[in-house]
Amino acid sequence: MPKIADIPNHVAIIMDGNGRWAARRGLSRLAGHRAGTDNIHRVIECFAEHEVKYLTLFAFSTENWSRPRREVKWLLRILEEMLSKETRKLHEKGIKLLHLGRLDRLPPRLKQAIRDAIELTKDNTQMTVNIAFDYGGRAEIVDAFKRILRDGIPPESVNEALFSSYLYTADLPDPDLIIRTGGEMRMSNFLLWQAAYSEYYSTPTFWPDFGGEEIEGALVTYAQRERRFGRLRPKAKKG
Ligand code: IPE
Ligand code: IPE
Ligand code: MG
Repeated sequence: MPKIADIPNHVAIIMDGNGRWAARRGLSRLAGHRAGTDNIHRVIECFAEHEVKYLTLFAFSTENWSRPRREVKWLLRILEEMLSKETRKLHEKGIKLLHLGRLDRLPPRLKQAIRDAIELTKDNTQMTVNIAFDYGGRAEIVDAFKRILRDGIPPESVNEALFSSYLYTADLPDPDLIIRTGGEMRMSNFLLWQAAYSEYYSTPTFWPDFGGEEIEGALVTYAQRERRFGRLRPKAKKG
């Protein structure tokens, strides 16, 4: 594996295209989600090898509840299966698991599986993997706003740092690179606040086919980008 200069600290992925991947093969959308879920472990491993410290995976949006009941149930079920199959393996690799989004609408067993995975892996330091499930950027901002009001924070104390500390991502750095598979050029309510200065990379590859070579391609592209953060010249790179 070639060593790439300037690896992003935090990569976030919109894992899209499971349905179209399946349709191309004459399979059901559910089979597409199964193939997509099976791809997750290999992608995590690959980013871990590249020494990416934070990886966020968008698995289910607040809007995805509007899909047919059967598909929603299936998506809930395969996340639970994935957690029971993969958590221990990820733990052994020193990976810390976190959840971004709402837990209150998830079935009790899934909620428990998420809590158990977070508890088991909480002291790991090799890499942090955030599963965004029942996640919506707007819902996150509204939730933060409500908690700020509930805590009685005076308006003059509200600033960007304080607001960030009320988001689901409170202890996480902003994503440096957002990758979207499946070819769409939109954010679909993902990390709206945190993506202010993220680099964006969209590939037509459907999520179940997204693997090592493409990951390398995305990282090389990222390394060539000039991040200016509003200045005239790129900000000095760390390291
Ligand atoms: C991504 O694949 C998975 C989820 C959004 C849950 P899709 O199911 O959106 O696949 P396409 O976009 O229909 O191909
Ligand atoms: C975004 O994909 C959400 C996830 C990948 C979980 P969608 O398939 O839901 O996005 P739209 O509807 O095409 O914008
Ligand atoms: Mg989609």
